[in-house]
Amino acid sequence: MNLSPQPLFSAADIARRVEELAGDIAPHLGDDPLVLGILKGGFMFCADLCRALSRRGVQPQIEFMAVSSYGSGTVSSGTLRVLLEPPPPRGRTVLVVEDILDSGNTLNRLTLWLQEQGAARVLTCTLLDKPSRRQVAFSADFVGFIIPDHFVVGYGIDYAERHRELPYIGTVQTP
Ligand code: IMP
Ligand code: MG
Repeated sequence: MNLSPQPLFSAADIARRVEELAGDIAPHLGDDPLVLGILKGGFMFCADLCRALSRRGVQPQIEFMAVSSYGSGTVSSGTLRVLLEPPPPRGRTVLVVEDILDSGNTLNRLTLWLQEQGAARVLTCTLLDKPSRRQVAFSADFVGFIIPDHFVVGYGIDYAERHRELPYIGTVQTP
């Protein structure tokens, strides 16, 4: 079975929104920001957002972090495992760049973890937000698109490690 994802946001929709987000975010980053892309789902968004920030004169340090809360299923476990640790964010303004805000567990725990590590300020940016799925009270500082409770793939986002390469975001039926 190889069902193609149903398009939700085209590459052009995403590019437009990323430019707008960069315009919203840039004034808040201060002098020496640390952009923290969350692997793997945030890799494409982070790359495009950094280029859009650069067009606005932002010169961030760019690092990546890998956390796991999902495994290969579609239900969050609520526990955060740090698989790839970034350099210490002590005293820095950190912009976390995430693909999807779903239950809220990942960004909630990650924000607390970065504060514990000494970050001066943690700003969160998510490309997609599914507010209807929230299990903990958390809202991101910057949101690309609010979406209903559909499972989405593409533009870095996977289902069982597939579809990350797609230049658009689409929905898939999950079992
Ligand atoms: P949270 O901790 O439940 O907010 O989980 C957020 C993470 O779950 C995201 O970073 C994604 O990796 C994953 N996730 C949530 N919804 C989807 C989806 O529709 N497609 C693929 N991954 C998803
Ligand atoms: Mg993710």
